This record gives sequence, C-alpha cells and structure tokens, in this order.
Amino acid sequence: MRRFEGDVAVVTGASRGIGLAIAERLVFEGARVVLTARDEDVLRQAAARIGPPERVLCVAGRADDPAHRASVLDLVDRELGQLDLLVNNAGVNPAYGPALEIEVSVVRKILDLNVVAALEWSRDAMAHGLGDGDGGAIVNIASIAGLTASPGIAFYGVSKAALISLTTQLAYELAPRVRVNAVAPAVIKTDFAKVLYAGREEQVAASYPLARLGVPADVSGPVAFLLSRDAGWITGQTLVIDGGGSIRPVS
Ligand SMILES: NC(=O)c1ccc[n+]([C@@H]2O[C@H](COP(=O)([O-])OP(=O)(O)OC[C@H]3O[C@@H](n4cnc5c(N)ncnc54)[C@H](OP(=O)(O)O)[C@@H]3O)[C@@H](O)[C@H]2O)c1
Repeated sequence: MRRFEGDVAVVTGASRGIGLAIAERLVFEGARVVLTARDEDVLRQAAARIGPPERVLCVAGRADDPAHRASVLDLVDRELGQLDLLVNNAGVNPAYGPALEIEVSVVRKILDLNVVAALEWSRDAMAHGLGDGDGGAIVNIASIAGLTASPGIAFYGVSKAALISLTTQLAYELAPRVRVNAVAPAVIKTDFAKVLYAGREEQVAASYPLARLGVPADVSGPVAFLLSRDAGWITGQTLVIDGGGSIRPVS
C-alpha cells in the first residue's frame, strides 16, 4: 500500500522511537518526509537509514524554537513543495512526582514543548500552505496520561490533556481544509519510557490484556491511518493505543 504517494510530511522528534517509526512508515508508503530532532548526528543517521536523501530530509533544532520551525518549513517550500501532513511528536517529561510538587519553571518547559510548540507548528504549517492541496492532516502524539490520573508523571499528563483539547479545537477551526487527530499511547518501548518498565517488563506487560508492552510500530500504523485518506471523514478524535489497558474491569 502506498497511501502517501506524492505527499510531503514533517515529523518532529523523529531521530528515534515513535517519531522515527512514523517517519519510516510514511516513507515506506510513498511520502517525502522532513525529520527533526536536536542531535544532528543521530538525526542524519536516522534519516539515511529510512530512505534516500531526495525522499528523506532532516533539520536539527528544538521543536519549540520559532527559527527552527521557519527553517524546516522553508526547506519544505524550497525542496519538496506542497506540505500535506504534520506530526507533532516531540514531547518531554523532565519531572516525576505529584502535580503539586512540580516547579513552575518545569511546568512552563513541559507546556512549551508538549502543547505550545504543537500549536505553533500547526499555525506555521497552515501559513506555509498545509491543506492547500488535497488531504491535509495533522496528528498530535498525546498519551493515555492525558486521559486518566497518572501517578508519578502527573504534570506530563496535564500537558497531554491540553494537547488532546488542542486537537479538538484545531480540528473544529481547520475543518474542512485540514483534519486534526491525536493518538494516546500507553507504555511504548522507547528510551523515553524506559524508566516506566526497566527491570520489571514482565510485570508491567501483565497489566495489559494484550500481555505485552507497545513498540513504536504499534503507534506508527494507527498514525499512518489517521493521516491517510482512509480516515478522510475522521477529525477531532483521539485514538487510544494501549494494549487494552483502559478496558480492564475495576476490581
Ligand atoms: N514511549 C511511550 O511510552 C510514550 C507513550 C505515550 C506518548 N508518548 C509520546 O510520544 C512522543 C515520542 O516519544 P518517544 O517515546 O518516541 O521518545 P524518544 O524515544 O525519547 O524520542 C524522542 C524524539 O524526540 C526528539 N526530541 C526530544 N526533545 C526534542 C525537542 N525539544 N525538539 C525536537 N526534538 C526533540 C529526540 O531527539 P533529540 O533528543 O536528539 O532531540 C527523539 O528523536 C512524545 O511526545 C511522548 O510524550 C510516548
């Protein structure tokens, strides 16, 4: 299946983990993609692994830096043409603990990347013509932490709840030109989530009806679906990807 033949995509935070899996899937299905992340060497190696330089470009920088966003979108204009797809994937969780114990400077840092940057990427992408072609779409990578209480990662959960609400708001405002959806994964085996399962993977996996942790490909397939024309009448939705974790009966 090559659902993205002729499409141009930007995926933020795509040098490893979920973002890289999404970029790889889009390239596999025919898209030309720009990857971003902060570490330039790792980013270049990742881009080279998933496709040739005429199909896979990359720009190193911070997703919450306006100058970086401008250089990514200028590159799209110059080298690739019409922008069709945006994946707001870059996200952080620099703090562990209850919401009332988090420092305000850390709150701002989390919100800047996990929420404000997604808004800014969406706004800048629209200004660069996202949705001018056929099939414009945005997918935001939220988390189940934004849908339930999340002991230990409380404020991260607040930020992902805001990202889910932003998805709803933008879906309404940008329709019918651009569809906007989100995914809410549970624990996916990446560097980011290691702290949640390292040394006790079997025990954590046993808490999911599907009896294993997620892997990046469990997210990239659903994201590709939401970006594709197969989801052409779906907007404003958040798709839970959690191995059945949210359907466990209350005991
Ligand atoms: N893994 C999970 O269990 C899980 C579950 C639910 C949701 N999520 C969400 O999924 C997204 C990706 O997480 P992941 O698990 O794939 O993480 P990961 O493996 O740590 O990868 C994060 C990627 O984002 C880049 N990045 C980090 N900070 C950035 C910044 N300020 N600007 C630009 N790029 C940045 C990293 O590269 P550099 O470090 O070089 O910048 C890397 O490419 C996040 O939004 C996360 O909240 C993850």
